[in-house]
Amino acid sequence: TMTRHEWAAEVRRLARERDAVILAHNYQRPEIQDVADHTGDSLALSRLAATVEASTIVFCGVHFMAETAKILSPEKTVLLPEPEAGCSLADTITADDVRAWRAEHPDAVVVAYVNTTAAVKAETDICCTSSNAADVIRSIPEDREILFLPDQFLGAHVKRVTGRDNIHVWMGECHVHAGIDGATLRERVAAEPDAELYVHPECGCATSALYLVGSGAVPQERVKVLSTGGMLSAAESTTAGKVLIATETGMLHQLRAANSTTVFEPVNPRAECHYMKMITADKLLSALRAGTTEITVDEATAAKARRSVERMVEIGS
Ligand code: 13P
Ligand code: SF4
Repeated sequence: TMTRHEWAAEVRRLARERDAVILAHNYQRPEIQDVADHTGDSLALSRLAATVEASTIVFCGVHFMAETAKILSPEKTVLLPEPEAGCSLADTITADDVRAWRAEHPDAVVVAYVNTTAAVKAETDICCTSSNAADVIRSIPEDREILFLPDQFLGAHVKRVTGRDNIHVWMGECHVHAGIDGATLRERVAAEPDAELYVHPECGCATSALYLVGSGAVPQERVKVLSTGGMLSAAESTTAGKVLIATETGMLHQLRAANSTTVFEPVNPRAECHYMKMITADKLLSALRAGTTEITVDEATAAKARRSVERMVEIGS
């Protein structure tokens, strides 16, 4: 058997041999994040997928992320080390659902979170991620009706921050983030009254977090609703003694590496995405050896989805 160091050296050697860049999401296992060329949030990884020089992208993440990379860079080979790595949120809506919903609101602009299949994206006008969702909404004229899909908590969050009331929200959820609920949050905040709080907008507790601020239980400046990339930037400069993290627990690896004087603790330590964790050290090695599993998107679907995804990568910092 290989040591961790030998494994990493072999992964790097095989990546060079294949002219491959390894991209990893912030929820990946620590050893995968550490061996990757780039680790980041959905928007940063999409932008990299669109611009990197390498002819192959090995996507350490879930299926919709690899599809998005392929849509943005159709000439590149995109590999997903475990093709069964799905997403419970992407599973909450189909392309037929979007067509039927649009038929009920023919003048609406359809905004889709990037956590959707390529077939769903093909039926939408513009995609967004958690880091640019509000900017994407602001790019749409105020008098236009908007259909936002598929995440109800992110939808409620963008309605709140943009102040628009003509946004209809699909009632999907991610099982991991929905499980970080208001009761769990209130319990943790009561036990750690001086801690800062970073909350991903997909969380069931995102509304409760703002309620804690509104009711005066927690000062405004201590609560931030952020994408995973936003959490990392905030962590780099915080002077807080402790920060409570409401998102998938894989995020803690980057946060702890970025700032060793602050203590980062999960709001819910059981908030683990088993899809993200399907990409193991062994799977990555076999994917690089065999060139598997190649993710493709049929060209008609990709062409329709590309407009929406390209608008997504252009908007927001
Ligand atoms: P971000 O990294 O863009 O915040 O996405 C979170 C997520 O749930 C991805 O599956
Ligand atoms: Fe999907 Fe949730 Fe897992 Fe992200 S954490 S990949 S939204 S199931």
